[in-house]
Amino acid sequence: MSTDDNAHGHWPEGYARVVLDTVDSTMAEAARRAPDIERPTWIVAKTQTAARGRRGRPWIVPKGNLNATLIFRPEATAAEAAKRSFLAANALYHALSIYVPAEKLSLKWPNDVLLCGGKVAGILLESSGRGPFVDWLSIGIGVNLRHTPDGVTDASFAPTSLREEGGWEVAPLDFLATLADAYATQEAKLLRLGFDRIREDWMHKAARLGEVITASTGREEITGIFDSIDRDGNLVLITGTGPRAIPAADVYF
Ligand code: BTN
Repeated sequence: MSTDDNAHGHWPEGYARVVLDTVDSTMAEAARRAPDIERPTWIVAKTQTAARGRRGRPWIVPKGNLNATLIFRPEATAAEAAKRSFLAANALYHALSIYVPAEKLSLKWPNDVLLCGGKVAGILLESSGRGPFVDWLSIGIGVNLRHTPDGVTDASFAPTSLREEGGWEVAPLDFLATLADAYATQEAKLLRLGFDRIREDWMHKAARLGEVITASTGREEITGIFDSIDRDGNLVLITGTGPRAIPAADVYF
């Protein structure tokens, strides 16, 4: 596998990096490379021609934004592996707060990062495996560094970008180095202190905790007070009929 070790800035030990010019999707590229992955590998592309978002939505990729996927082999069941989205969100928060005041950032369940209330970054998880553990997990991350994408019509939150909100300019590869470091720190926290520590960090940065929000599962709309994230990563709302743990939904507020 071709990797390059000339990462911009500090690069976390044990992680590889692949830099591509154009690719259909870094998620698709990660899946193609999965059989040969020997260590956690960040795949980053300047452009994607068929980038995908959550729930089958397209992801629009103007030049100058970050398009990256981390692929690795966690010793985890699919349910445990899915909790990595919280690690990625925490890492994004830390990385972005270098370039913009942290008070402007917040996290929206399950895996969006908001800047001044607009969506600045999205996270998409994919995994594969037949045994008790996943064979591999991919964490795809798109960050609107330079441009706010046009034509996003089906998003529950309007997109924004670091530049639009007056953040410091940062090149995608420089941002990736910061993000890769922040993500490696999250993995170390998970290993030493467990998911409770990750969950606690995430909740400190959550948008609308303690306020009334609505979760749309596709089958029903559930409105309640945003109480917490439980140990399985579910959204917990206190509704008129009691607490509800919601495994998957789009959230509106
Ligand atoms: C979302 O819908 O919020 C998730 C968006 C994830 C986009 C990123 S960009 C890098 C990686 N490659 C893709 O095709 N998608 C993810």
